[in-house]
Amino acid sequence: MSEIALAVVGTAYHTPTADRLEVLRDVVVAVDGAGEIVGVRAVDSAEGVAAIAGAALVHRLQPTQRLLPGLVDLHIHAPQWPQLGTGLDLPLERWLFEYTFPLEARFADEGFARDVWAHMVPTLLAHGTTTAVYFSSIHEPATLALAEQCVRSGQRAFVGRVAMDHPEGTPDWYRDASAAEGVAASRRSVDAIRSLGSELVQPIVTPRFVPACTDELLHGLGALAEETGALVQTHCSESDWEHGAVLDRCGVTDTHALAGFGLLREGTVLAHGNHLGDDDLRTIRAAAAGVAHCPLSNAYFANAVFPARRIMQAGVKVGMGTDIAGGAEPGLLHQCAIAIDSSRILHDGVDQRLPAGERGVPDSRLDAVSAFHLGTVGGAGVLGLPVGRFTAGMQFDAIVVETASVSSGMRAWDGIDDDDDRIFEKIVRLTRPADIQSVWVAGRVSGRGRRG
Ligand code: GUN
Ligand code: FE
Repeated sequence: MSEIALAVVGTAYHTPTADRLEVLRDVVVAVDGAGEIVGVRAVDSAEGVAAIAGAALVHRLQPTQRLLPGLVDLHIHAPQWPQLGTGLDLPLERWLFEYTFPLEARFADEGFARDVWAHMVPTLLAHGTTTAVYFSSIHEPATLALAEQCVRSGQRAFVGRVAMDHPEGTPDWYRDASAAEGVAASRRSVDAIRSLGSELVQPIVTPRFVPACTDELLHGLGALAEETGALVQTHCSESDWEHGAVLDRCGVTDTHALAGFGLLREGTVLAHGNHLGDDDLRTIRAAAAGVAHCPLSNAYFANAVFPARRIMQAGVKVGMGTDIAGGAEPGLLHQCAIAIDSSRILHDGVDQRLPAGERGVPDSRLDAVSAFHLGTVGGAGVLGLPVGRFTAGMQFDAIVVETASVSSGMRAWDGIDDDDDRIFEKIVRLTRPADIQSVWVAGRVSGRGRRG
């Protein structure tokens, strides 16, 4: 066996499939110096004993602690961090122009940007977000500074300079000077992030969404993704307004428009997707792209509940996103709980004046296992990352949750919570940052507990 840099000893939970919790009771997770899991062994097996004896560092969990995979947040607007928790009184099209674009424009000030990033990235790690997919602003220095902060804090990340040039879809004080300049700035940003030489932090091509971009810019960014091999992220079929605006302008749905611009590629992250039709789903599946489900933001902007079950059943890759600051909650684990809640509302329906049998959309329910699967394995699958579960060959991105918590009210009660499924459900619904006691990315301690 290769050299073992870290052995984590305790009971782990993960969800390799959407329908079953797998309990790894009293195991040793052995991690090599490159952050790769080299084995998961019973603690009392010969291999387990040898892994502990040979490890440079041994981390033993308390009986009340559980090891879980780190969370993969597929959709964060980094420059909206200062408005987290505010401004959700307007519909998307007004929220962008009245609150969000003015705030994002301030990231022309690189010093301000660095202050925000230094507050945001460690906070997200403290919430258990070990992989983050970021929309930055249109500014190259702020975007590079965000990538640098992720490297410093040890967060796995995709960082995208936002491209937007449409004369009607953007204000003249916050847009790329032209399509050509938008593509050129995005190319420079991809190169600059790659030149950091980090294995954890990658660039991602980021057209904001079709209404904010001219056809020329969208075509140019599709070509840039092809040329550089970088992943793509954008918004797709988020709200009635956005879905309708693309149909009006392009004569086809958002999905097909993006495909025509060369932006629907393997690993493309489509944020929201609330109004996707069956034909869109077939197209997304064939392209091996995926959808970021952002349930809290959807409650404000989407005009519908995302049909997560239907989309999973269509064979489309789905992960979870906070959509900070459209979603006013920084933690992805908490977002998983909201995904369960919103799926139940979709299942049962909302208008009590209708007969019960006509109110909802049957077969829509998510539970703690399926929601956590989306927040870990699902997101990793969209991005093509070897994270999200504890199996040899995967990168060790993980968190430790303390289940005996005063602050969140979580506790595994003797004689009541002897079943791991109950403890797991409590973890998904009740964990707060104070309960997340260790965070590792690629086998290294990350965030506030990080040394050096
Ligand atoms: N569509 C285009 N830009 C945005 C944004 O910043 N947030 C959300 N939720 N949708 C968008
Ligand atoms: Fe968004």
